[in-house]
Amino acid sequence: MLAGMGPVAGGIVGPVATAELAAAVSNAGGLGVLGGTGYSPRRLREEIEKVRALTNKPFGVDLLLPANYMAGVDRKTSDLRELVPNEITVGLKEILESLEIPWVEAPVEPTVQREPGSGRADAQMEVVIEEKVPVFASGLGSPDQWMDRLHANGIFVLSLVGNVRNALRVADSGVDAIVAQGTEAGGHTGHIGTLALLTQVIDAVSPIPVVAAGGIASGRGLAAVLAAGAQAAWCGTAFLVAEEANQPTAQQRRVLEANAEDTRITRLYSGKTMRNITNPLIEAFEKSGLPTLPMGVQDIAIRDVVHSLREAGRDDLLMNAAGQIAGSLSEVRPASVIVEEIIMEAATILTKTLPDAVQVELD
Ligand SMILES: Cc1cc2nc3c(=O)[nH]c(=O)nc-3n(C[C@H](O)[C@H](O)[C@H](O)COP(=O)(O)O)c2cc1C
Repeated sequence: MLAGMGPVAGGIVGPVATAELAAAVSNAGGLGVLGGTGYSPRRLREEIEKVRALTNKPFGVDLLLPANYMAGVDRKTSDLRELVPNEITVGLKEILESLEIPWVEAPVEPTVQREPGSGRADAQMEVVIEEKVPVFASGLGSPDQWMDRLHANGIFVLSLVGNVRNALRVADSGVDAIVAQGTEAGGHTGHIGTLALLTQVIDAVSPIPVVAAGGIASGRGLAAVLAAGAQAAWCGTAFLVAEEANQPTAQQRRVLEANAEDTRITRLYSGKTMRNITNPLIEAFEKSGLPTLPMGVQDIAIRDVVHSLREAGRDDLLMNAAGQIAGSLSEVRPASVIVEEIIMEAATILTKTLPDAVQVELD
């Protein structure tokens, strides 16, 4: 399964997992999942239509449903800057100064004009339900409040979790499958390793099927998680280097160059723990001990930082979510080749380990 990856690099070019990438994975025999986060409801609908034009295979849409988005904020507040405590702005300014990057305030109006309803999960969820997409995946939070309508419209529901407690919570709300995402993963992530999490989630939610995520980018990885009881693998980082990935060049180049120790978890870019290819800004931020704000509010806190980086031509310091398995990736290839290689390698390993009698029958 292709992980429904949202935008990197401050959203310059939109989500990574667009219609082209999702359709390429579905056409190759995987399950392509559109990264819906970052799209306005109108754009999300257009992108779903595009997937349908590019494939007649099943596909999915992923959205982030964080419980504490803009926690404690009156959304009608006119001056968003007032939401950010002065000491945080001062701290961020000092960090940029230490990197010799001039502080340039972002225009009061966001540079990318947002449409009404943009970024709002409830409006995006209406599109998912109206379009009756085959699969819906929720990253962060629970799809609980939409579950009855999702199922009434024939939509298969997956939920990503990073610990057993959340696995039990989404299981209670009636999801059809659970993605157990280990800390190795790129993007928002928890603290438990993939294998340790996977086995414990399987035991906790049986008979609900469990999909493994975090650090899987080869047939060896897929075979390992299938052997551990997963029904499938959900892969993000592997597809960051797909030809069809909507990944800015600077970000993709770093993924190709990275080794296994080049990623780091930080709350800098979203307020929640997120694994990124590290960079001098992340290192300086982590060293500073500066606190972060709830998801949504943190976006506002770092708006001027993102604007300053762009003005200084330092796209290399923008968000670049990627997992530890980035160290194994060294070339850009079509998504279909990535899918086929993973499946063929896993099939070879799994058939080799079968007893001879079964092997003969398979032959
Ligand atoms: C660039 C990037 C963006 C991501 N965006 C999302 C997202 O919008 N929603 C989501 O549920 N997961 C997101 N993830 C996490 C993936 O869904 C997935 O769980 C993770 O990539 C799996 O681990 P791997 O990167 O080691 O393959 C993102 C991951 C990456 C690398």
